[in-house]
Amino acid sequence: MKLLVTGGAGFIGSNFVMYMLREHPDYEIVNVDSLTYAGNLENLQSVESNSQYTFIRADITDVQQMEQIISQGIDVIVNFAAESHVDRSILSPDIFVRTNVLGTQVLLDAAKKYQVTKYVQVSTDEVYGSLGPTGLFTEETPLMPNSPYSASKAGGDLLVRAYHETFGLPVNITRCSNNYGPFQFPEKLIPLIISRALNDEAIPVYGDGLNIRDWLYVEDHCSAIDLVIHNGKIGEVYNIGGNNERTNIYIVEKILEQLGKPASLIQYVQDRLGHDRRYGIDPTKLHTELGWKPVHNFETGIKETIQWYLNHQEWWTRIQSGTYQDYVKLQYGDR
Ligand code: NAD
Ligand code: DAU
Repeated sequence: MKLLVTGGAGFIGSNFVMYMLREHPDYEIVNVDSLTYAGNLENLQSVESNSQYTFIRADITDVQQMEQIISQGIDVIVNFAAESHVDRSILSPDIFVRTNVLGTQVLLDAAKKYQVTKYVQVSTDEVYGSLGPTGLFTEETPLMPNSPYSASKAGGDLLVRAYHETFGLPVNITRCSNNYGPFQFPEKLIPLIISRALNDEAIPVYGDGLNIRDWLYVEDHCSAIDLVIHNGKIGEVYNIGGNNERTNIYIVEKILEQLGKPASLIQYVQDRLGHDRRYGIDPTKLHTELGWKPVHNFETGIKETIQWYLNHQEWWTRIQSGTYQDYVKLQYGDR
């Protein structure tokens, strides 16, 4: 099998490339990534000399380049490439529409033209909007995105659906909850807390800190996508989540406690605009149809993740320098 992974230099994409090369050593993997601020080839050092692996720097919105790559015998496309950070989508929505909507359409056209066996769109639970105190997102929950990020992801999902309905393109869409684990960019909550706490910087908690996210260890997301590639029923959507809902303040306090840092670092700040209150995934379909089970529990997963960031301070210190500082100033001021 020859697999095209887009966005494979980012957090989940790089974990996925390493996971697939380990689980399917006979597969060829082509990683296409434009290396935005979030793309980092350092994540893939352990596989760069693997003869089954190729990296190509290219933008998924570039029709010619995507056609050229996909015409070279690609069997399956897994599209991770995206602008992924909600706060950045509030500051600059345009690039989100470009990559997440237009980029998806470019890939779909090339997938159709060169008749790939399957196209998998890696999407998010955020397309469903926000939950009240009860209930969970199922695959039938209507799409009600609230941020420019989630609206652009929903736009991509709807195009994927349309290419299946209109052209018969063999597709799956996966919608996963919040991931955590190694190689996550320190703008996202968990690595942001760890890196700022280690530097004794204030931890910005939006609003009342009681928003809820449903956390899944990144490798469990990878194993679910692997199953969807092989056994997902054509045209279907699969929700991915590990039934692990936590308030943000629980996560902050837990990490500070594990690091032996004081609660006085916590700083409640102005809420995120349009901040979704609660996400919770119902993963029943993935369990019953595909037999998926997550193997990491949150208590050990978070300890391992903290340890990973402690062992890789150079990795996150390097990416925190340069343009990331401009974003931090915009988002958090001088805190
Ligand atoms: P990330 O921001 O860490 O990585 C995104 C990658 O895409 C980067 O390597 C970047 O360089 C690349 N990229 C961006 N624009 C591109 C373009 N135009 N052409 C080619 N490459 C481009 O994101 P992530 O957290 O790893 O998320 C990966 C995917 O999973 C996204 O589609 C996201 O919506 C989805 N997702 C993320 C989560 C999560 O918790 N992080 C949960 C569910 C779904
Ligand atoms: O649910 C899946 C989504 O999870 C993915 O589709 C997105 O790509 C991914 O970024 C993530 O989105 P969130 O907005 O949930 O993640 P983030 O880490 O930005 O924030 C998690 C929660 O923490 C959210 O309620 C906002 C809050 N938060 C975040 C930051 C960065 C804070 O309180 N302070 C912060 O500084």
